[in-house]
Parts: sequence; structure tokens; C-alpha cells
Amino acid sequence: MKNYHTPYYLIDQTQLLHNLKIIEAIRQVSGAKMVLALKCFSTWDVFNLIAPYLDGTTSSSPYEARLGYETFGKEVHAYSVGFSAQDIRRVRSIASKIIFNSISQLKQHQQAVASIPLGLRINPGISYSHYDLADPARLYSRLGVADLAQIHQVAPMLSGFMLHFNCENADFANFTTALAEIGERFGELLQSPQIQWLSLGGGIYFTNPHYPIMQFSELLRDFATKFAVQIYLEPGEAVITNSAELVTTVVDVMYNEVDIAIVDASIEAHMLDHLIYRTSPKLTTPESGSHRTIIAGRSCLAGDIFGEYYLKQCPEIGTQVRFADAAGYTMVKKNWFNGLAMPSILVRDLDGTIRQVRKFYYRDFKSNLS
Ligand SMILES: Cc1ncc(COP(=O)(O)O)c(C=O)c1O
Repeated sequence: MKNYHTPYYLIDQTQLLHNLKIIEAIRQVSGAKMVLALKCFSTWDVFNLIAPYLDGTTSSSPYEARLGYETFGKEVHAYSVGFSAQDIRRVRSIASKIIFNSISQLKQHQQAVASIPLGLRINPGISYSHYDLADPARLYSRLGVADLAQIHQVAPMLSGFMLHFNCENADFANFTTALAEIGERFGELLQSPQIQWLSLGGGIYFTNPHYPIMQFSELLRDFATKFAVQIYLEPGEAVITNSAELVTTVVDVMYNEVDIAIVDASIEAHMLDHLIYRTSPKLTTPESGSHRTIIAGRSCLAGDIFGEYYLKQCPEIGTQVRFADAAGYTMVKKNWFNGLAMPSILVRDLDGTIRQVRKFYYRDFKSNLS
């Protein structure tokens, strides 16, 4: 492999393909359609590998919708917590479906998008989230409509519904119970003649090892048959899980009661979600052992710490440190804090060849503001 300068994100197409084959099997057995949640992963260089295995993309903004339209193709689901009139003008020529977050949004924009299939986000109040911050059923949630009577009133304007209530949910039993509850509470609504589809959102970890893919597929298929709806899933994490690393190099080692290795990246700028949720990325390199080491970033933030690890030895300056699972909610959130060098993007193709698909320069940092 050519010696690429760190830091860089490295996406592995072979691992991606492993996830995609699982998706293919689920789609075939269940009849469910899947749209990639661009909020999780938008690195479009690898969309030519992903697109044949999915049915399109789903978005949280007009820019994401446009990216899906331009780089992925197929169906474009346009959702936003709050569309402006300008946003609607932007998405209406490219969206296959527009999904509103509230009844007032639906009523505000319905006339402008009358010819497009419309959906409404339901908030079923069911939650599978380890974090309040990411819980759509949290107190005073603004994500979707909870009042069933109000939903019934506007149902004639709609062709489907979206609900998103899972988050990192690898528990099939829990999903089965939740789906049964959804069937009971919303079954009548789904059986309205004009309602054709139901999106169950994302957050289901069906590409995890040991997930009961067949049972899951059959459950989706039976639900779709019972309520005569096309099921959609909106996976993000499940598509790209374990398919990328953030590769860094140790630039300094300090000691303050414990060894501290400083790498040429930053958790604040390059793996922000871990800082938000107070988690630590796993390391793929160096090897683990019994030597307590803090791995820290090089921004000025006092808490720019990737984590505390037990390694074989304290890594020396020049050692590579590779963080696992750097694709989901990671590359989409990278930022220019401190003007730190932005990790380039490399892709390992199916034949093992590594390509650098994006490099960032000072001019990118400068043009980010004015
Ligand atoms: C509405 C909606 N759909 C899909 C997703 C994708 O979830 P995940 O990446 O966990 O599969 C999310 C994540 O927040 C979401 O809010």
C-alpha cells in the first residue's frame, strides 16, 4: 500500500458488501424496501457499490435529498423536521415521497406538492434508545404526531406513514413486541384504502452477528400482508457498520500520572458522536495488553480524549492508532474545529486496491467560512 498521510478515514468495500448481502436477503424474503439514511452516512464515492442493494435514500434536509438524487438515484424520500416554502420548492422536483413531521407542516405545504405521494411521521411513543438525547419518545418530543384522532383526520391527504422508534436495537424480541403494538394501535389507520406504505425508520441492527434475519424478514412480510402496506426500512448504521476506520499517527507522548498518546486527529472534530454520547471508539491497532494509556486528540479542548485503553505498551511517536467503526454518524459530522488537518477519505476496493478519493486542503478550511 502506498504510504498515505494520516489522518484518514478508510472505508472497506468488502465489509460493506458483507452487510449489503444481508440486506439483499432480507429484502428478498420480506419484500420490504430499504432506503439509506443519509444522515448516518453520505460518503457518496461508495454509493455505486451500495445502490444496487437498496431502493434509494432518505434525507433530513433538501441538501441530503439532492445528494441522494444526484449520487444514488432510485427513490428519494424527503423528510424534514421543518420544511420552509423554499425547501419544498427544492425537493418537489426530485422527491419520490415527501414526509412531513407535523400536521401543521402538512397543511402548510400540501397544495405545493399535491402531485407527490405524501407521508406523515407518527410518534408512537415507543422507545428503544439508550440515550435520552437520541430518544424520539423523550419528554416533549417534537418528532412526529402522537394524536391518533388527528392523524385519522388528515389520512385522506396521505399515502403512507413513517415512524422511527429504534436506536441501536439488536434485540429481535423487543422489536417483535413493538411491531405487534404498532399493528394493534395503527392497524385500522394502515388499512385505509389510500394508505400504501409504512416506513419503520432506522435503528434496527440486523447486520449484527447472530441477528435472526429469517425471523425478522418473515415478521416484516407477515405485517405487510396483514395490513396491505409496502414496508420500508431506513437503515443507516446497519448498512455501514464496521466498514471504516479512522487511521491516525501518534505525534506526541506525555505523562501525567498515566501515559497519554496524542494522535494527529481529534475526537471533537473527527469522531464527534463519541464525545456527545460519552463513549469511546474501539481500537483495531495497536494490540491490547495491560499498559494503561490515554489516547487523546490534538485540539485545544481539554477533554479531547478518544479513551482510556489497555495496550501492550505505550505507543511511541510515529505509531499508527486505528479507530474502528468510523463510518456512521462520524464522517457526516466532521468539522474544522481548531483548523485541524481534515482526514482524507480512502476506499479499499473489493480487489484490495486502496484509492484516495478525497483530500482536504487549507483552501477547504478557508472556504468553509468567509
Ligand atoms: C427518521 C430516521 N430514520 C432513519 C434513521 C437511521 O437510523 P440508524 O442509522 O440507527 O439505522 C434515523 C436516525 O436517527 C432517523 O431518525
